[in-house]
Amino acid sequence: MPHSEHVSKQDLKREGEIARHLLHQSQAESSYAANGSESGHEPILEVRGLVKHYPLTQGIVFRKQVGAVKAVDGVDFDLGQGETLGIVGESGCGKSTVAKMLVNLEKPTAGVIKYKGEDITKLSGRALKAVRRNIQMVFQDPYTSLNPRMTVGDIIGEPYEIHPEVAPKGDRRRRVQDLLDVVGLNPEYINRYPHQFSGGQRQRIGIARGLALRPEIIVADEPVSALDVSVQAQVVNLLDRLQNEFNLSYVFIAHDLSIVRHISDRVGVMYLGRVVEIGSDSQIYDHPTHPYTQALLSAVPVPDPRAREHRERILLSGDVPSPANPPSGCRFRTRCWKAQERCEVEEPVLAVPEVFSTVDSPARHPSACHFAEEKQVVPSE
Ligand SMILES: Nc1ncnc2c1ncn2[C@@H]1O[C@H](COP(=O)(O)OP(=O)(O)O)[C@@H](O)[C@H]1O
Ligand code: SF4
Ligand SMILES: [Mg+2]
Repeated sequence: MPHSEHVSKQDLKREGEIARHLLHQSQAESSYAANGSESGHEPILEVRGLVKHYPLTQGIVFRKQVGAVKAVDGVDFDLGQGETLGIVGESGCGKSTVAKMLVNLEKPTAGVIKYKGEDITKLSGRALKAVRRNIQMVFQDPYTSLNPRMTVGDIIGEPYEIHPEVAPKGDRRRRVQDLLDVVGLNPEYINRYPHQFSGGQRQRIGIARGLALRPEIIVADEPVSALDVSVQAQVVNLLDRLQNEFNLSYVFIAHDLSIVRHISDRVGVMYLGRVVEIGSDSQIYDHPTHPYTQALLSAVPVPDPRAREHRERILLSGDVPSPANPPSGCRFRTRCWKAQERCEVEEPVLAVPEVFSTVDSPARHPSACHFAEEKQVVPSE
C-alpha cells in the first residue's frame, strides 16, 4: 500500500485542526489589514510582536537574573496616517513602556516598529536621530516633566538644541512665541517659570515642546490624567484641534475608556502586557466582545440618569497579577467570570473570533478570547 494512503483518523483530525488554525491566522492577518485601512488611512506606524522584559536580578556582587518583568509581551497594532489610536488599560499593564519604545526611550527586547515601512528599532546614529524628530512624546505629569529651573521659552525651545537644523538660533524666540500662541498661551509668558502656571497650562507647555520639531506622530501618555476633570476636556480639545492643523497622527494613552472616546478613531485595550481587543471606536464601545473590555466599559460614567439605570456593572475581582509571573493560557482568566478549562491551557490570539469571522457585524474585529461574545454594556444614547 502506498504510504500516502495510509492515513489514520487521528492524522486527518490533526490536518483538519491545522487547516482551521491556518484559516484562522489568515483571517487574523486580513483583519489587521482591514483595521488599518478602515478609514482609508495608510499606516504610518506598524508595530509587530513588540516585547519589553525587564530582568529581575538577585545578589549584590554576583548579580544573577532570576526572572523578568514582562512589561510588554507581544503587542501588535497599526497607526494610520492622521488617525488617533487610543490605548487603554489599568495601571501597570504596559502602556507607558509601549510609549517609551515608540519614541525610542527604551529599546525593545524583541519585535518590530516600522515607521513608514522602515524598522526603527534597528536604526542608530543619524538615521535614528532623523526618525526621532518625527515621533514626539507628551508626558503624563506636567508637574514633574517640566524642569522647574528653566524658563518656558527654554523648555519649549530645548528640542532645537538637539536639532539645530530645524530652527536657526536667531529665529528660535519667535518660533517659541508662535508655539505658545498655538497652544493657547500668551506669547509674553516666554520668560516665566513652570510654577507660575496651572496644571492645564503646564500641559499646554508640554504639548508646545512636543510640537517644536513639527513631528508627524505624537505619543501622548495619559496627557490629562493628572489634571482636574474641568480642564481635561480643554486639553483634549486642544490636541484635537492641533491634529487637524498640523496633520498629526496620535497614539493617545489613557487608563480610562471615557477619555479616549472623544478623540480616538480606533481603540486598543491592553491587559498585562498584551492588546486583548482592538477596533474602531464604535466596535469597542458599542460592540465589545472581550470580557475585560466589557468590564472596563461598565465602569465608564454615563451622564444620562435613565441610561445609567439600565447599565450593568461588572465588578472585577482581585488585582492585576504580577507581570513577572502572568497566568498560563489567557492572562485575564484569574479575573474572568467566563473562564473555563481551555482558558488555562490555551493562550487566545488577537484575531477575529471564529464565531464572528463570517458575519457582517461590528462584532467582527480582533479580540483575544476563546469565548468572545457581543455584549452592549453602555446603553445607546
Ligand atoms: N524600568 C523598569 N524596570 C522594571 N520594571 C518596570 C520598569 N518600568 C516599568 N516596569 C514594570 O512594568 C509594568 C508595566 O509598567 P508601565 O508600562 O509603566 O504600565 P502602565 O503605563 O500601563 O501603568 C509594571 O509592572 C511596572 O512595574
Ligand atoms: S479566553 Fe477565557 S479567561 Fe480569557 S477572556 Fe476569554 S473567557 Fe475569559
Ligand atoms: Mg503609565
